[in-house]
Amino acid sequence: SRDAGPFVPENADLPELRRASAGCRGCPLYERATQTVFGEGPVGARLLLVGEQPGDQEDRQGRPFVGPAGKLLGRALEEAEIERDAVYVTNAVKHFKFTLKEWSKRRFHQSPGTIEINACRPWLVAELEAVSPEVVVALGAVAGRALLGPSFRVTKQRGVPLDCPPFDAIGAPAPAQGPPAGRIVATIHPSAVLRAPDRDAVYAGLVGDLRVAARLLD
Ligand code: URA
Ligand code: SF4
Repeated sequence: SRDAGPFVPENADLPELRRASAGCRGCPLYERATQTVFGEGPVGARLLLVGEQPGDQEDRQGRPFVGPAGKLLGRALEEAEIERDAVYVTNAVKHFKFTLKEWSKRRFHQSPGTIEINACRPWLVAELEAVSPEVVVALGAVAGRALLGPSFRVTKQRGVPLDCPPFDAIGAPAPAQGPPAGRIVATIHPSAVLRAPDRDAVYAGLVGDLRVAARLLD
């Protein structure tokens, strides 16, 4: 199979989707990862956050944003006065993509490409339909491309409310039916803050963009 489509049950609620996602074989990433990391959060969440893919810690624990990037995201949400427990948090790609190096025991993060983003998109569409948020935040380029299409550029489109286009309008493969409701605000990925030499300024930018999203809910 070339994408997650055949594994996604129709009209399913979040617990059903989560259960089904554990058995997804929509692309080869499931083979080496520990487990599927599905999204988490309340059904009625007004805000839905999309990250890139699980990292090492997320892969081990089976939960999104529980590692270093997640801790930073938690602080940024608090500063933006967004209650983390009220937010649905997920990733564009649900399995950890990594590479091994001879000289290390670590598993090194590899960014997912268009093939994996497209393969996994049916899960993201199903989550968007089940949660039906008012505002979506795309954390970084991969989430931006998953939601807005391949021409998305973080540097040009971050921090301003955009209309969420229907998936068929971004040339996404099936399922193309999902018009993700509401508005979308893109920002940088929390991992980019951790890597930045000018960390404080970059972090402030993330918090500022999250505030833009929060204001849309007022
Ligand atoms: N980075 C992400 O994009 N998602 C996670 O869940 C963890 C780190
Ligand atoms: Fe399925 Fe997505 Fe995992 Fe690929 S990355 S196997 S499409 S859940």
